Amino acid sequence: MAEKKARIAVLVSGGGTNLQAILDACEKGIITSGEVVLVISNREGAYALERAKTAGVPGLTLTRKACGGQQAFEAAILKALEDAEIDLIVLAGFLAILSENFTARYPRRIVNIHPSLIPSFCGAGFYGLKVHEAALARGVKVTGATVHFVNEIPDGGEIIAQKAVEILPGDTPEILQKRVMEQAEWILLPNAVEQVCGEIIGTEK
Ligand code: GRF
Repeated sequence: MAEKKARIAVLVSGGGTNLQAILDACEKGIITSGEVVLVISNREGAYALERAKTAGVPGLTLTRKACGGQQAFEAAILKALEDAEIDLIVLAGFLAILSENFTARYPRRIVNIHPSLIPSFCGAGFYGLKVHEAALARGVKVTGATVHFVNEIPDGGEIIAQKAVEILPGDTPEILQKRVMEQAEWILLPNAVEQVCGEIIGTEK
């Protein structure tokens, strides 16, 4: 009989390189305790949906606008997660805010990747290139990425894993973003997903 795997939903808004890292890790056997069974995008036409399709994973677009507001948007996501019997939600470049009403339903079952060493350059307003712009403006010499559980505080949940990345002379936000992804995010996130999935199936055995 096949081993039980945690059922993972990945929530995205954009290019989905972190989603790709998770899909590749499943393919390569780096993630063995979980499988991606659903991808939800809050942006029409996000390239991440193409990646899901290529991997044979069902993709769904749910926008706040089409749903008619935040409450209905969250209700639609919750319904999709429940229908797919999701054990773990991975926010991988998901730019929509989820309320406490949502996060409280999945304690230690939602993880997020943030492209800095929390508690630096995190919280409301720090997303995408803004994070790297802020790190360069402050003149720090080391930055990195953090995977953490999601609770009601933006970027405030328990830290699962971190990896440091050097800032080099001449870095632009774009160059730094690419280095943080290559050297930290794409390694850290799949490993953290495997760790949490292991804990989920371990506790359910
Ligand atoms: C990544 O830098 C991630 O840390 C942040 O948003 C970006 C998403 O990139 N939360 P991608 O869509 O995974 O390529």
